[in-house]
Amino acid sequence: MAEVAPPDPPLAAEGVRLRPFDERDVADLVEACNDPDIAQWLVAVPQPYTESDAREYVAHCAAGFADGSSLQLAVTDADRGTFLGSAGLMRPLPAQRVIEVGYWTAPWGRGQGAATTATRLLSSWAIDDLGYARVELMAAPLNAASNRVAQKAGFAREGVLRGRERTRDGVQRDLVVYGLLAGEHESRPR
Ligand SMILES: CC(C)(COP(=O)(O)OP(=O)(O)OC[C@H]1O[C@@H](n2cnc3c(N)ncnc32)[C@H](O)[C@@H]1OP(=O)(O)O)[C@@H](O)C(=O)NCCC(=O)NCCS
Repeated sequence: MAEVAPPDPPLAAEGVRLRPFDERDVADLVEACNDPDIAQWLVAVPQPYTESDAREYVAHCAAGFADGSSLQLAVTDADRGTFLGSAGLMRPLPAQRVIEVGYWTAPWGRGQGAATTATRLLSSWAIDDLGYARVELMAAPLNAASNRVAQKAGFAREGVLRGRERTRDGVQRDLVVYGLLAGEHESRPR
């Protein structure tokens, strides 16, 4: 896939700014990713999560932009610059014009609307700037906070993919699939 440049100026709204990951995020990544909720709902995040995992993630995010395979950004507090979490676009299907959005926030960044704002910003960028026609989002049925984020970000609940994800315990877990189509999204002000 082709290189994608991180959005410039950075995507920002409602007190949240998205920027590329770098070295300064390593300590926050380690602290955030050792959270039990992240372990429960994000099966691909290593547990326990080490400094070396965080450094690999920072490198993986840079590589994702370089080959267009995954566009992950740090979610930060726009005023203070504090690290709040991670949100990104992944699994692009350019021929179908379909891409997926995903997110997590650090325990200290939750309950302030950060995941919802980041999801809105990334979805609008995917549709308006990158030319995607559909953004998908998946969440486990029991992950109430994530299902709420999907609804608040304007996604339509479309159905349940049965046994779609293997948990750390080796159980095939269902995932609820949500979709947002071009025209259903809110374009950001320019
Ligand atoms: C899911 C997650 C990203 C939400 O992040 P956040 O920044 O707190 O999200 P927001 O503040 O934008 O919105 C959260 C919403 O969920 C609601 N919520 C939180 N916990 C809830 C619960 N247990 N039951 C019901 N609703 C809940 C909040 O009240 C809020 O809704 P509201 O604005 O209507 O009050 C965060 O909890 C997280 O990182 N969890 C672990 C990783 C994860 O699950 N990632 C998503 C995988 S699909």
